[in-house]
Amino acid sequence: MLAEMSLAEKVGQMNQVNASDSEIDDHLRQAIAAGRVGSVLNQVDVDTVNELQRIAVQESRLGIPLLVGRDVIHGFKTVMPIPLGQAATWNPEIVREGARVAALEAAKAGINWTFAPMIDISRDPRWGRIAESLGEDPYLASELGAAMVQGFQGERLADKGTIAATAKHFAGYGAAESGRDYATTNIPENELRNVYLRPFKAAVDAGVVSLMAAFSDLDGIPATGNEFLMRQVLRDEWGFAGFVVSDWDSVRQLQIHGLTENDKESVYQALTAGVDMEMAGQSYLHHVEDLVKEGRIDVGIIDAMVANILRAKFGLGLFEDAYTNPAALPAIANKHALETSRVAALQSIVLLKNDHGVLPLSAEKLDSVAIIGPLADAPYEQLGTWIFDGDPELSITPMHAIHSLVGHDIDVRYLRAMENSRSKASPTFDEAVAIAGDSDVVLLFLGEESILSGEAHSRADINLPGDQAELVRRVRETGKPVVAIIQAGRPLTLTNIVDDVDAILFAWHPGTMGGPAIADLLFGVESPSGKLPVSFPRMVGQVPIYYNQKNTGKPPSPDTVVHIDDIDARAPQLSFGMTAFHLDAGYTPLYAFGHGLSYAEFSYDNIKVSAPEIDLGDTVTISAELTNNGDVAAVEIAQLYVRDLVGNVTRPVRELKGFKRVRLDPGQTVTVEFRLHTDDLAFYGRDMLLMTEPGQFHAWIGGSSETELRTQFRIIDSS
Ligand code: NOJ
Repeated sequence: MLAEMSLAEKVGQMNQVNASDSEIDDHLRQAIAAGRVGSVLNQVDVDTVNELQRIAVQESRLGIPLLVGRDVIHGFKTVMPIPLGQAATWNPEIVREGARVAALEAAKAGINWTFAPMIDISRDPRWGRIAESLGEDPYLASELGAAMVQGFQGERLADKGTIAATAKHFAGYGAAESGRDYATTNIPENELRNVYLRPFKAAVDAGVVSLMAAFSDLDGIPATGNEFLMRQVLRDEWGFAGFVVSDWDSVRQLQIHGLTENDKESVYQALTAGVDMEMAGQSYLHHVEDLVKEGRIDVGIIDAMVANILRAKFGLGLFEDAYTNPAALPAIANKHALETSRVAALQSIVLLKNDHGVLPLSAEKLDSVAIIGPLADAPYEQLGTWIFDGDPELSITPMHAIHSLVGHDIDVRYLRAMENSRSKASPTFDEAVAIAGDSDVVLLFLGEESILSGEAHSRADINLPGDQAELVRRVRETGKPVVAIIQAGRPLTLTNIVDDVDAILFAWHPGTMGGPAIADLLFGVESPSGKLPVSFPRMVGQVPIYYNQKNTGKPPSPDTVVHIDDIDARAPQLSFGMTAFHLDAGYTPLYAFGHGLSYAEFSYDNIKVSAPEIDLGDTVTISAELTNNGDVAAVEIAQLYVRDLVGNVTRPVRELKGFKRVRLDPGQTVTVEFRLHTDDLAFYGRDMLLMTEPGQFHAWIGGSSETELRTQFRIIDSS
């Protein structure tokens, strides 16, 4: 095909055009017919999409079909929890199924390419896009990101109902300084390889069709012009055979970054770096041909880029059939789609705190329940960020779900109390106190509405916004049991409310079926099983705080830490401190990575290692006994962490290396086993090569990254 293409037609394939208008204008028709458009984005009317494909296939000289892109991030019409919530399921199966449902619904609109998964490692809850991420851990994000790719792309990409996935944003975007979206990132190469690039490698291994270059500047070279990332790592080291798309107009933004003087130079940099397709800016259309004619860009480079794009079109089966027959695909929001959304929400919700077993509630033992707060009945807000096509009419809110679950048995009173999460205290707070005082238990629906997270929606203060903390305090004064159900697109700092509530269910933005999931968890139809995919700081000043940190030369411990209020009591002052902690926040998060309570009580015991010493190339099995000491059946997510005690570069204090969902009946004990090959312990060392170093390792198994149940083993090199 390449041999038949003119240079102008090749450049056309590298050009992606916004087609969001409901009427396709003549300009776009002509451009497609002239072979000047390789892809469109943001058109979701299936008849219009079919018409665009018809023009491409029938009217352009070579009949090359279009890639039709859309941000289908966590659902199309039926919305799954935000990706950060999906990460809290620690369940690749449900993540895969959620993406599959999204693909089927999007494909019905003619979409054949999504810009997901976003697998930027995010250690900063101020960053609004943490909502779209799979959290702070490279292993968890790799496992779940790969599952999402498989869900979107299906077993055979050419099948109807599958769509091509995009791993984004390559790379480092999540490390934006101070969590301000689009801000600069500085990531040393060793950290980049050991942390930020890992999920991308996993996505490439899972067969992801495309990658998107990040908006951000990485160590002085914006990602869109970064040859090291896109040529050395992606192509030469990983052998990626798909294509790279820029972010929206990010090629021309190379000039704004200060890397180039004009659009033509920006195009030169992006081509040299390896951006195959330009999203939205159209500067490739205007400058690639000149750069080739001037001899600055070899036509072989262009051919390779176009081949990358055409390969994706062949892979999708578009040359056989570019059209969409919506009737041949399952109905939107069918039973399976809604059930997938419900199960994903159920598994995503994390029980952060549950004093005196206030949860689960028992409808038999209660006469009344007060539902108070701005997010109890907010069908749009529960869907979260990036839901261009999500249908709020499908949402079942917690208020409605609680009514249907227990409304016949107990008196359910509802008061919104605040217009939105940012509202100030008002006379409705008095009403809230009155209703609370008159009810057996208070359910406070707090958090952030969807507009407070997502692209370009970062926050410097991550407390509950508005006067929600004041609402909590007022309601607390009634002396009634208070349960906070928090919906948010990020970890929030909950220090100022945590002691004023008896229980906290953290529900992220749970999606279409968030309401029934929350109701079932509150009333014990199911036990919570979600675990945090990201650390919750006590105070924003602790950020970045993440579990897989380095030890430092002065690691803190409980006896070296003093609180600022206790300084005078601890004389002489130098008898404490001199370790890495904050005087006002200590060194631990409020809730650690991996934390999440259950209505059962799990304990871990008897950790064992299959051999105290293994050779490079061998496998070791680490196991522990897990018991359900509670009186309900429930799912626990058992986690394996490892520390490589000595390395030629310093290694994290713990790294997640495995996890398993296990369902246990009351009284049941099972042995959870993790097999580790020595390759699973490889890291990039000083020379930037991936290798496993012989030496001593610690391994822990437990229910969070704070587990203390430890064993050890040694890797030797007997060769
Ligand atoms: C900009 C965002 O950074 C990217 O993630 C998204 O896919 C594109 N816009 C297209 O909407």
